[in-house]
Amino acid sequence: MGIFRKKRTDEKVDLTALPEHIAIILDGNGRWAKRRGLPRTAGHAVGSENFRKIATYCNDIGVKYLTVYAFSTENWKRPDEEVSTIMSLLEKYIIEAIEEVTKKNLRLRFWGSREGLSEKILKLMSDAEKKSDEMTGMQVNVCLNYGARDEIKNALRGIVKDVEAGKLSCEEISEKTISSKLYSADTPDPDLLIRPGGETRLSNFLLWQAAYSELYFSDKFWPEFDERELDRAIIEFQKRNRRFGGV
Ligand code: IPE
Ligand code: IPE
Ligand code: MG
Repeated sequence: MGIFRKKRTDEKVDLTALPEHIAIILDGNGRWAKRRGLPRTAGHAVGSENFRKIATYCNDIGVKYLTVYAFSTENWKRPDEEVSTIMSLLEKYIIEAIEEVTKKNLRLRFWGSREGLSEKILKLMSDAEKKSDEMTGMQVNVCLNYGARDEIKNALRGIVKDVEAGKLSCEEISEKTISSKLYSADTPDPDLLIRPGGETRLSNFLLWQAAYSELYFSDKFWPEFDERELDRAIIEFQKRNRRFGGV
């Protein structure tokens, strides 16, 4: 008889030490579809369904904030057909989310520039935010038409305006002033930032807020990134030693 070591797969998430805020770059939809001989747009459809599944799981286990990167300020460079499919899927998602927020007690927020988005989607976004205002459960931040550099540029404009209006002096500008002008003003920084899809870069996501986030990269494409893979990321997070520059 051999002696077997406990398998890694037996490891469980410690629900008492969850990351309070998880951020995910929803990447790999296109390649997932291509691998199956499907058009890239099919990957976006399955990816969008998967978001619903993972968000529900995060809410169920007790995550407080979930921020997802759904469409970047750079994604407009893609072919028109792909962009319009992504926009229709987002519309569909928001319409369904408006129904779900009350049932699941979710707070929904959209982070990103309003510029370039259709009137229809802007109206849906504001309806969804309003409807979820009273909710007290997990906050879901959907980064749509989001770019961290664009976000920081807008923050800078806001600060300069305050200085020009005499509300603030140059010396009074602190890190807190900058944080307060970002979409994330009322949200703690992400503890765990996950990127599925095999790429190991941030692609203009949360550059300010992720200063001390723990990063987790997965080779799984977003449409196949399941609850078990999220567990793996959280288990790995729970083994990390976060020092924030200390010892
Ligand atoms: C992420 O998947 C979704 C968006 C960026 C909108 P991709 O479309 O980037 O998929 P890959 O990375 O090309 O596989
Ligand atoms: C990042 O993925 C943006 C989103 C997932 C919304 P991309 O696919 O656009 O990033 P790159 O082009 O590989 O850096
Ligand atoms: Mg990609």
